[in-house]
Amino acid sequence: MTALDLRVRSKTRVADGVVALTLEHPSGGRLPDWTPGAHIDLILPNGLTRQYSLCGDRWDPHAYRIGVLREPDGRGGSAYVHDVLAEGGTVAIGGPRNNFPLAPSERYLFIAGGIGITPLLPMIHQAELLGADWRLLYGGRTRASMAFTGELARYGEKVTFVPQDEVGLLDLPEQPPPDAKVYCCGPAGLLEAMERRAAGWPAGTLRTERFAAKDTGTPARDEPFVVELRRSGLSVTVAPGRSVLDAINDAGIGVLSSCRQGLCGTCETGVLEGEPDHRDALLDDAERAAGDCMFVCVSRSRSGRLVLDL
Ligand code: FES
Repeated sequence: MTALDLRVRSKTRVADGVVALTLEHPSGGRLPDWTPGAHIDLILPNGLTRQYSLCGDRWDPHAYRIGVLREPDGRGGSAYVHDVLAEGGTVAIGGPRNNFPLAPSERYLFIAGGIGITPLLPMIHQAELLGADWRLLYGGRTRASMAFTGELARYGEKVTFVPQDEVGLLDLPEQPPPDAKVYCCGPAGLLEAMERRAAGWPAGTLRTERFAAKDTGTPARDEPFVVELRRSGLSVTVAPGRSVLDAINDAGIGVLSSCRQGLCGTCETGVLEGEPDHRDALLDDAERAAGDCMFVCVSRSRSGRLVLDL
C-alpha cells in the first residue's frame, strides 16, 4: 500500500465520543479524488491500519474529513486518534478506496446506526445534488452521541433522527420503498437485522458496509488446500490456521494488504478455478456466488485446489 503523510488541519468534537478530523496535504496540494462511500486507511505508528469512511465534501480536493468514534474495546486506532493525534500533527493514510459505491437510482433510503452515518453523509449530498428522492433514518444511543446532526437538520423532513433513549430502536422497513436502493451502515446488530428484513427483497436492493469483521463461523475445510498461482507458475499449500495471503507472500508473490480482516478490499484477487470459502464482509450474495474473486487475507477454499490470477 502506498502511504501518504497528511497533516491534521483540524480536530473537532462532533458528538459524545466522536471527533472529526480534517486532513490536508502538508504542501496544501490536491488529494486523490474519491467518491461517496469511499474510505481511507489510517496507518498507526505501530503499522496497523484502521479504515474510516470519508464524510466530507468530495468536491473539495484539498481536504479529507473522517469521523472517529472512541471504541473502548477497539484495538488502539480510535484511542490514538482521540488521545494522541493533535491538530498540526501528521498521520499516514492509504487509499482512498471505495467498497460501498452509490449506485444510480432515483430513490434512496439511507439507514445509519451511530458512527455508521459517516459513509452516508456524502451519499446524501450526492443524492441531493442529483435531485433524487431520498430519506434518512438515523439511530443512535442518545441524541448527544449522534454526530453531524446539525449538518443533517437542514434537510428537514427527509431526515428522521431516532435517539434510542427518547424513541426506541429504529423502525426498519418491512419492504423497500418502490424502486429504491437501501444503503445501511452501522453496528453489526443493525446490519444483521436489515439483512434479515431484506432476505426476500429484489437482489441488490440492500447495500451494507461493515466496520468490523463478520462472524463467519468455522472455515468450510479443516484440511490443507493447494493454491495455484497461474501467472507465476507456483503452487503453495495453505495449512489450517494460516491465511492464503501469508502463504502467497511467503512464496515470494507480493499481494498488497491492509486491514487483514476482510474489510478494506486491498487484497482482492481473481479466482480462475475452485470454490472460495468467502469470509470477508465485502461481497454480496451474488458476488459470492459468482466466485471469481476473493479477499485472500481471510477467505479460504471449499475445494482442495484454488487457482488464482496471480
Ligand atoms: S487486507 Fe483488507 S480485505 Fe484483505
